[in-house]
Amino acid sequence: MNQPVHNSPYDAVLEVAVAAARRGAAVIREYVGQHHRVRAKTTNDFVTEADEAAQEAILETLNDATPEVPVLAEEGSGPDAYSESVDGRRWIVDPIDGTTNFMHQVPPYAVSIALQEDDALVSGVVLDVSHDELFTAVAGHGLQRNGAPAGVSDTSDFSDAFLATGFPYRRFEHTEQYLDVLGTILRDARSVRRHGAAAVDLAWLACGRFDGFFETGLSPWDVAAGIVLVREGGGRITDYRDDGSGLAPLFDQQVCATNGSVHRSLLAHLSSMKDVRL
Ligand code: IPD
Ligand code: CA
Ligand code: CA
Repeated sequence: MNQPVHNSPYDAVLEVAVAAARRGAAVIREYVGQHHRVRAKTTNDFVTEADEAAQEAILETLNDATPEVPVLAEEGSGPDAYSESVDGRRWIVDPIDGTTNFMHQVPPYAVSIALQEDDALVSGVVLDVSHDELFTAVAGHGLQRNGAPAGVSDTSDFSDAFLATGFPYRRFEHTEQYLDVLGTILRDARSVRRHGAAAVDLAWLACGRFDGFFETGLSPWDVAAGIVLVREGGGRITDYRDDGSGLAPLFDQQVCATNGSVHRSLLAHLSSMKDVRL
């Protein structure tokens, strides 16, 4: 796998994020096939020993290289970590995106690391551990897959669109509404997949495998890196009201991401869910 070089002022920090992701991946691989402790945080929301050990390794690498940069990480990172705006830089980390997949040894599952600077997401790294595939992006400096340039598909007709989604799995008050929306999309688009790792869904959209992705209820660590990948791959990523400015949809709990060409069609299908957050 080639080392990504984006020729940007962020290459040094990107290198740190890639090193941290690779260390996290090495830890995750040690747990494959091993019996490990699993704890349910809430219904259907799990944390395994591997999530915790990988996060520790990732944070150690980030803190060693950039001790001045705070971290927002899924498995707990201090009381002030969740603020939306930051003064300066902040890492946003999901040590395993796709924990349920990992628990059942079903690919994909990935490490996701993003760098936020003030009100902007400036770089993103998604390392699909199950396929050993690395996606990197730096704002204004493009997307790379395994160190080579990549970008979104050119599908323009919604009837040809190959889409991904995330099912409701933790809170079910809007499930009927979601299923109605999914029903119209299944009828109007080519097909829909549910792979169980939002960071990978976004990476696969960014590099042209999917034409669109939508999910309600995602957290910032699920999408932070993916937002940069999609934008830099030439795609569009917004909430269900079509707000894609600044940090949106990092904290909006609604993600509609496409190659750009099918965005209006996907948003139109999601219009009844404009006010839904989980
Ligand atoms: C989950 C995955 C999944 C998505 C969930 C996320 P986790 O992340 O991205 O695809 O449907 O909403 O929470 O819990 O495996 O890190
Ligand atoms: Ca996640
Ligand atoms: Ca996770």
